[in-house]
Amino acid sequence: MISPVSDTAERRRPLVVAIDGPAASGKSSTAKWVARELGFRHVDSGALYRAATAATLRVQPDSAVWTEEMVLAAAAAVSLVPSDTTFHARLAGQEAEEELRGGAVTSRVSLVAKMPRVRAWVNDRVRAAAAGHAVVVDGRDMGTAVFPQARVKIFLVADPWERARRRLLQRLERLPTEEEIAEETDALVQRDAKDESQTQRAADAVLVDTTFLTQEDQVARIVALAKTAMR
Ligand code: DC
Repeated sequence: MISPVSDTAERRRPLVVAIDGPAASGKSSTAKWVARELGFRHVDSGALYRAATAATLRVQPDSAVWTEEMVLAAAAAVSLVPSDTTFHARLAGQEAEEELRGGAVTSRVSLVAKMPRVRAWVNDRVRAAAAGHAVVVDGRDMGTAVFPQARVKIFLVADPWERARRRLLQRLERLPTEEEIAEETDALVQRDAKDESQTQRAADAVLVDTTFLTQEDQVARIVALAKTAMR
């Protein structure tokens, strides 16, 4: 439950807004925007899973033979570099955004995200990023495993067809056809199934269904909830 901050213990709770939800629910873009509005920094936990996956692919292209040790060793090449409003996951010190978002990483990242020690590695990095700085974090388990004491917890959902439509609009920079949306919807539903065990809605998270909301509206809603919780 979100309630006004009233006692000392409550005031000591970290200034964390945790946004969780399934793939393509708009978490990262919303979290980035909310962070800007609040003057917080954004941390995208999914980018760390993607970076660990990309780093492993560079060392061993055949993911059938990947082990947890191999992924953790490769992940040593990953760094999280702060900027004014966010953190950027780098590989061997270099920007690698395209590689992180590409198909090779996307199709293998669920495998890596199931590895318990990799999850612990990501969680440590996300908590370190949040130490000493107010943050908006997004992922699948930010409000449960990583920041159970977050002041504000949001679980973002949207109809799969709408999530697919938005994702294609962003990727193709034109209106997608019905066939393209149908194909993307299938792929998203499959990804949801792969990520199901990691995707957790905290009992005290506010459910925000963005199917019929503009991004501006959903950001305004979350910012208002955060301002109330942090008064
Ligand atoms: O949100 P995304 O598509 O960038 O996430 C990439 C992968 O990492 C996806 O398989 C879900 C997983 N993930 C996770 O298990 N826990 C998180 N906190 C964030 C992402």
